[in-house]
Amino acid sequence: MEKQVAIIGAGVSGLLACKYTVSKGFNPIVFEARNSIGGVWINTVETTKLQTPKPAYQFSDFPWPDSVTELFPNQYQVLDYLQSYAHHFDLLKHIKFSTKVLGIKYQGASDEEMQSWSLWGGNGEPFSSRGKWIVEAQDTQNQHSTEVYQVDFVILCIGRFSDVPNIPEFPPDKGPEAFHGDVIHSMDYANMDYEIARDFVRGKRVTVVGFQKFAMDIAMECSIANGVEHPCRVLYRTEHWHVPDYNPWGVPLPYLYLNRFSELMVHKPGEGLLLSLLATILAPLRLAFSKFVESDIKKKLRLAKFGMVPKHSFLQELNSCLIATVPQGFYDKVEEGSIILKKAPSFSFCKEGIKVQGEDTTLETDLVILATGFKGEKKLKDIFESKMFQDCILGSPDSAVPLCRECIHPRIPQLAVIGFSESVANLYTSEMRCRWIAELLDSTFKLPSIKTMEKDAEKWDQYLKQYSGRYYRRSCIGALHIWYNDQLCKDMGWNPKRKQGFFAELFEPYGPADYVSP
Ligand SMILES: Cc1cc2nc3c(=O)[nH]c(=O)nc-3n(C[C@H](O)[C@H](O)[C@H](O)COP(=O)(O)OP(=O)(O)OC[C@H]3O[C@@H](n4cnc5c(N)ncnc54)[C@H](O)[C@@H]3O)c2cc1C
Ligand SMILES: NC(=O)c1ccc[n+]([C@@H]2O[C@H](COP(=O)([O-])OP(=O)(O)OC[C@H]3O[C@@H](n4cnc5c(N)ncnc54)[C@H](OP(=O)(O)O)[C@@H]3O)[C@@H](O)[C@H]2O)c1
Repeated sequence: MEKQVAIIGAGVSGLLACKYTVSKGFNPIVFEARNSIGGVWINTVETTKLQTPKPAYQFSDFPWPDSVTELFPNQYQVLDYLQSYAHHFDLLKHIKFSTKVLGIKYQGASDEEMQSWSLWGGNGEPFSSRGKWIVEAQDTQNQHSTEVYQVDFVILCIGRFSDVPNIPEFPPDKGPEAFHGDVIHSMDYANMDYEIARDFVRGKRVTVVGFQKFAMDIAMECSIANGVEHPCRVLYRTEHWHVPDYNPWGVPLPYLYLNRFSELMVHKPGEGLLLSLLATILAPLRLAFSKFVESDIKKKLRLAKFGMVPKHSFLQELNSCLIATVPQGFYDKVEEGSIILKKAPSFSFCKEGIKVQGEDTTLETDLVILATGFKGEKKLKDIFESKMFQDCILGSPDSAVPLCRECIHPRIPQLAVIGFSESVANLYTSEMRCRWIAELLDSTFKLPSIKTMEKDAEKWDQYLKQYSGRYYRRSCIGALHIWYNDQLCKDMGWNPKRKQGFFAELFEPYGPADYVSP
């Protein structure tokens, strides 16, 4: 009998999962809570553009149209591109829009039985004759209407940077409730139409909390709306290596970090003795590359002048997938005084505004925008009804989410997660993973024992801890995209070496175009 695959989410990852499962003869059903495709790209702030250069954020078999000439397309261009992809591969017919999955429940084996398994799902296979997932879905237009589906395999593509905001915690009476102005999250701001957002901040003393991409973009928009008359204050706790462009000192960044040579400079999960030796010998070069990029960023953005030189290395930023592009002219706004950068390791609210820990003065403000990120882990955990799966999906508090090949939890059968673990070019990463999942579903290869998968996830965790510092929980493949893809290729029976000739293989950057065909 035909196996039923359910995909939850129709963002970039869900579309890819749909396309590749269809290519293997499945007829997946895609549940999407919203009424359109595109996920995070549906609601963004006005200045949001692709941060990844277009060629690296591209479907391997569906290039950007010639009409998009920009290297960093805007929100509408990205959405159009995703729409064209969905139409081209006839994916829309699989999607159930306005249908939110409330929870998924595994049926077929007891918790005790599952704990005794040595192979994924008990048999090492993606499907089982008795194991099923029960998917409870709600019609978001009519919340009284829920439906239950029984499926053989679930691919979770629910995204990490939406829906569940990360709101800082405060002692009693020192949180937003103490403040007489408005407090919103960047998600609320992004959900407004551009013009409404502009009107909303106009004439207000705005404080933005956070110093990553959303924070910088929103601060930029506020400073454009209000100028020096009502400067936008940015409350940050960590300086970051935001990139002004991808050409430090004229050298394209991919030549420093996205080729095989650059990967020789870092220790890799599962490496042999020779590679380990090479990584140790080349460590000084790794440091030199990082300093090379840092010196360029420092100079271009005048970071020393503004007291914004980060304490960690660029390599650490890259390995944590924290790379964000700085909006053009951001530090000009700082210089002219329409953006004020204020370090605040910890803060609380009072009636008139914000108090930075250890300081007496109140930072008076009318509106606080918390650009403090999202709780993607909570979303992932809450989709499971079973307490056992809720506990194991996130791993221990001092490890990254333990997914084999960043897709499969060894102890959760008949299920894959796509798009949780990040990279510096997420579309391409999700595409490789979806191809791998499709081959797994098609029985091209089998997964090893649960113990082997757990050991592999541990090795990746150690790698993250070594190179990402305090951001290791961010789950990401960091600066090892090629090494990671090599593992997927080997599993699928593809040649991992995709270039012509020794020097090209060693020095040319890798990207989606290298994986067009198996
Ligand atoms: C504003 C913004 C810009 C970004 N820019 C870049 C960039 O330039 N380069 C880059 O590499 N990455 C970027 N990213 C990272 C981005 O998350 C990925 O590139 C990618 O778009 C994520 O796709 P996804 O499908 O995994 O998740 P999402 O886009 O988050 O899609 C998840 C989908 O699942 C749906 N969903 C969630 N829960 C349920 C449920 N219970 N039931 C039904 N449906 C559900 C959601 O409605 C959503 O449509 C950006 C992220 C943001 C927020
Ligand atoms: N393409 C685009 O233009 C675009 C636009 C927006 C977002 N994005 C992407 O979307 C994702 C989410 O971005 P994001 O900016 O929302 O989140 P983020 O990258 O997770 O950054 C969160 C920021 O909030 C700070 N923060 C978190 N908790 C805090 C607390 N309790 N107190 C004070 N500060 C706190 C963090 O500080 P620390 O650094 O000290 O932890 C960090 O500066 C990222 O992948 C980003 O690249 C892309």
